[in-house]
Amino acid sequence: MPKCCVVGAGRVGLVAAACFAEAGYATICIDSNQEKLLTLQDGLLPFYEPGLQELIRRNLNCGKLQVNSCLSEAVRTSDIIFLAVGTPVNQQGEADLSDLNHVVDELVQIGRELQDKRIIVNKSTVPVGTGDNLSRRLGKANGCYHYVSNPEFLREGSSIRDFTVPDRVVIGTDSNRTYEDLANLYKTFLPETTPFLKCSLEEAELIKQVANAFLGIRISFINEIANLCEQVGADVRKVVQGIGLDRRIGTSYLKPGPGFGGSCLPKDMRSILATSRLKRVDLSLIEAATRANELQRQLVVKKIKSVANDSQLQKTIGILGLAYKPETDDLREAPALDIIRLLIREGFKVKAYDPVCNPEAQKLFPGVSFASDPYDLAKDCDLLVLVTEWKEFGELDFLRIRKIMRSPQVLDCRNILDGDRLCQIGFTYFGAGISSTCVEHS
Ligand code: UDX
Repeated sequence: MPKCCVVGAGRVGLVAAACFAEAGYATICIDSNQEKLLTLQDGLLPFYEPGLQELIRRNLNCGKLQVNSCLSEAVRTSDIIFLAVGTPVNQQGEADLSDLNHVVDELVQIGRELQDKRIIVNKSTVPVGTGDNLSRRLGKANGCYHYVSNPEFLREGSSIRDFTVPDRVVIGTDSNRTYEDLANLYKTFLPETTPFLKCSLEEAELIKQVANAFLGIRISFINEIANLCEQVGADVRKVVQGIGLDRRIGTSYLKPGPGFGGSCLPKDMRSILATSRLKRVDLSLIEAATRANELQRQLVVKKIKSVANDSQLQKTIGILGLAYKPETDDLREAPALDIIRLLIREGFKVKAYDPVCNPEAQKLFPGVSFASDPYDLAKDCDLLVLVTEWKEFGELDFLRIRKIMRSPQVLDCRNILDGDRLCQIGFTYFGAGISSTCVEHS
């Protein structure tokens, strides 16, 4: 049975390491951050991901999984080395590959003393062309390394399921032997029906970024249609139902909202745009979807202003949900952060609540008052704005909330609340892409 090494104890790295160990492979996860390693060795996680902590604990306890910082020892004792280090991009979309480059330099050093072959599998998202460069550099180490691009399509909040029941496994390599070795590793624990795609390094790198860009385009598309629905007396949910019945279209990634966030969609779109500028290829659709995503946050604030603006009184806005989506503690590029910033600039008093992100968000907004629960948040608010669709927000007691708000008004940016019922019990309700004529305003 091949032994696995995963470099990088971030979300992708830890999920991969835990799942390989769970599948029975002896796995070592390497990270240079000692604090993170101590947290993991204590059986805790440096971030929130459902199910992962138990999986890591169990495999650490039975010895299938190890975490430490010694790359050279791990490479010597492993057959397949997965790279899952962070590759952030700046606002211009230029990728910071310094962590990846550093690991590759170390691998070249270590490789000079290796006698037999190792497969190096890159899971970090990189601009197209990176793999070609890395594989040339790795080639300097006695030819002992075979470099493969194997992008990861995990969604936060459902990472373990996405890893163990993926829609597909993409393997970029020109070597049939290396492809087989890696595919066989996966085939021992993935469902038999999982499609495998063999392609070139460049194609694998593009597939990851293009998939995310396409999802971003879908979301921005429906957000723009939602904005139109509000102006023409329509309900976007019906429109999505209607177009989604067309099997060519479907309904996924067509939920309107305050714009997409997170560490991948916005970043990958910026990165592919940077490549397009370099290669002088027009990717105007991706550009427009990125711009629409930025505008979407501003439109939420415009809506809030039209509902709650009053030159005489400073209105209090309660933000329900801060994470960029439910089941994660990730605030990266979260729409709620932009909305709060803009509201403060507009002179509103802002209160906020998130079931898991309060402590992190508090550091960013010392002037915002953070509530201990949704009822504490609603107290004295003129408008509640539901930004993240945490399940518990759909189960709130709105009769109780109505009594404690200054004025019972809700803007549901995710359409998870029952607008008709809220109107019946005395709320003024605004949805996303739902014209006011479509809800029973009392
Ligand atoms: C995404 C990709 O789905 C995943 O394949 C890739 O590996 C990493 O990036 P993730 O960032 O976890 O995963 O989030 P995802 O669930 O895709 O949602 C991204 C954003 O789009 C969230 O802000 C979400 O709220 C928003 N979204 C999603 C919508 O606004 N509407 C939708 O219909 C779907």
